[in-house]
Amino acid sequence: MRAHPTRLWVIDTPSTSYVVALDEHDRLRGLHWGPRLTREQAASLPELPEAVGRSVTDGCDAVLDLTPASAFRYGANGVQVRFADGARELELAFTEAVEAERELTLVFTDAHYGLELRTRYRAFADSDVIERTLTLRNRGAEPIEVIRADSASWVVPEREDYRLTQLYGEWGAETRLHRTTLPFGETHLGSRRGITGHQSNPWVAIDDGTAGEAHGEVWSTALAWSGTWRLTVEKAPTGRVAVSVGSGHDPVSVSLAPGEELETPVAAGLYASEGFAASAAAWHDYARAHVLPHPEELRPVAYNSWEATEFDISAEGQAALAERAAAMGCELFVMDDGWFSSRVHDRAGLGDWHPNPDRFPDGLGPLIKHVHELGMRFGLWVEPEMVNPDSELYRAHPDWVYHRPHRRRSEMRHQLVLNLARADVAEWMHAWLDELLSRNEIDFLKWDMNRPFSEAGWPGEADPDRLWSEHTRNLYRVLDRLRADHPRLRIESCASGGGRVDFGILRRTDQVWTSDNTDAVDRIAIQEGLAQVYPAKVMGAWVTDAPNPFTRRSVPLDFRFHVAMAGVLAVGGDLDAWTEGERERGAELVADYKRIRHLVQHGRRRPLRAGAVKGVQYGLDGETAVLAWRLGRRLGYRDPLVKLAGLDPAARYRERGTERVHHGAVLASHGLDLRLRLDDYASAMVHLVEE
Ligand code: DGJ
Repeated sequence: MRAHPTRLWVIDTPSTSYVVALDEHDRLRGLHWGPRLTREQAASLPELPEAVGRSVTDGCDAVLDLTPASAFRYGANGVQVRFADGARELELAFTEAVEAERELTLVFTDAHYGLELRTRYRAFADSDVIERTLTLRNRGAEPIEVIRADSASWVVPEREDYRLTQLYGEWGAETRLHRTTLPFGETHLGSRRGITGHQSNPWVAIDDGTAGEAHGEVWSTALAWSGTWRLTVEKAPTGRVAVSVGSGHDPVSVSLAPGEELETPVAAGLYASEGFAASAAAWHDYARAHVLPHPEELRPVAYNSWEATEFDISAEGQAALAERAAAMGCELFVMDDGWFSSRVHDRAGLGDWHPNPDRFPDGLGPLIKHVHELGMRFGLWVEPEMVNPDSELYRAHPDWVYHRPHRRRSEMRHQLVLNLARADVAEWMHAWLDELLSRNEIDFLKWDMNRPFSEAGWPGEADPDRLWSEHTRNLYRVLDRLRADHPRLRIESCASGGGRVDFGILRRTDQVWTSDNTDAVDRIAIQEGLAQVYPAKVMGAWVTDAPNPFTRRSVPLDFRFHVAMAGVLAVGGDLDAWTEGERERGAELVADYKRIRHLVQHGRRRPLRAGAVKGVQYGLDGETAVLAWRLGRRLGYRDPLVKLAGLDPAARYRERGTERVHHGAVLASHGLDLRLRLDDYASAMVHLVEE
């Protein structure tokens, strides 16, 4: 088909265009997602040749930008409903286009059943990311069951072949990068756990099989949502590919009452023409410019007490750790789990959010004061969505958890999930947090969430599957209110490590706890994966003890620091057990980090690889920081020079510390000698400043 000029729209970003057009059946087709096109060029996009011998029913799989279940649609349908009479097919007519600066809304209506769909596109002046949402409104007289309402379906241009890149994982091994040939059919990624999940991050990238870090076309999409979700990559038998993404999971559905509206979370999409590193950098810029609440702030160096003490905490012990942390240069002291009620182990107390009177007889005030006097901010661990059955809260409100009358209440880590979809639970949660923050000068919350939903029922509620979305919406509401009323508050999103990392939670939190796995060697892969989408300034990274408590691996202090310095550096070891020499070296490395953190947190990231040496380079305004590491060595092995990118070839760069002077042209073409020690687990940090 050749689109009629008035039925074709071009969404422009600084260097890309996304083009959609209606066909003769009012189906919205994705015609182009790639380099910038003028309107005239877009209007001339060629008709695809007719396939030999195909029936009219073929050919609309993986080419539509809006994918309602309708006649002859047997592939992935992003919009699935059931009307009151049982009909599932939509017959949509295009109603109108509402255009504003960098915004487009296309409206479609099913006249018989009164269902209105609004698909919305939003572009930015400073980013190639396009944000999309879908709104469903029931303008009819009967309720409509909404089975699936994806935020967006992205049509990827036709190429010979495709690869799929995903971030998969599990607890302790989150955001692992995996790249594979895209099979025919539907590939589903998602979470049915109630949270974003460790198993899969709501992001995917598609390339034509030839892209590398520094070249090639990459199409990617991320969902800004912290509840359940599904992403379907469909490769039709024609070879065409589309990606449909949205919140929710099968088999849940919600009822849309007459007059009611449902707006989906944002799905963001990005086309990058210069490889995976450029794609990642564009996502980082987008996060800083349009997602994070305080993008301009440099994240402080934290100390977190969890690995040092676990539940064995006392006011004196925490104060002593705070003194050690302050001496090392830490700027934020975070007291983790175990400070409240009967929470002296993980079997009791969750839900009773008042300081343990034996451990903090005078409340939290004296410790907070001490921490502030040491020149640090004070942070506190909370897990507001959870309850231990052995708690005052549960004894008073056994109906406040997700449950079903005739099913057991399955515990995980001895805890149950509070039904935050309930308005009274959300009110209670906000009230105790608000009081805690009002009574105490708390600067930072580590907001944990340590188990997925199970037996997710809501007895008495007419539309109980609503809990899956309302839980997340109420979580967002509570966070938004707390932030508005306590402007100094900064928040870390944690869910047993990296179980809730997405652009939805990052709109109202400042950083994430990347993983409970603090082994620096394992962290390299976890951080590399996370960095495909999320900027280093949200990537919490602690330096902990050797041997590592989980993996029992011992790696040198410098190596542990250098890996953590690629994100938001923090210290999480038992500082009392460190030697004087380790604490002194730790302080030097914290000081090193403070000299480069503006580059790490706000600069352009480029991955480095040269033989067995790997690392990252962060550059901003004539300054570059290199963090690199090599795990093992072999007899006769020599580290190659590491070529740097993004430098001015005509400029000279002075290396801070050694004062060696390097030429940009030489660093780019020959590389930098990192002078790594000839040991296992060697690492380096180099800071180059343009002269
Ligand atoms: C899980 C978190 O990921 C840890 O860092 C720690 O806060 C524990 N929960 C405390 O229970």
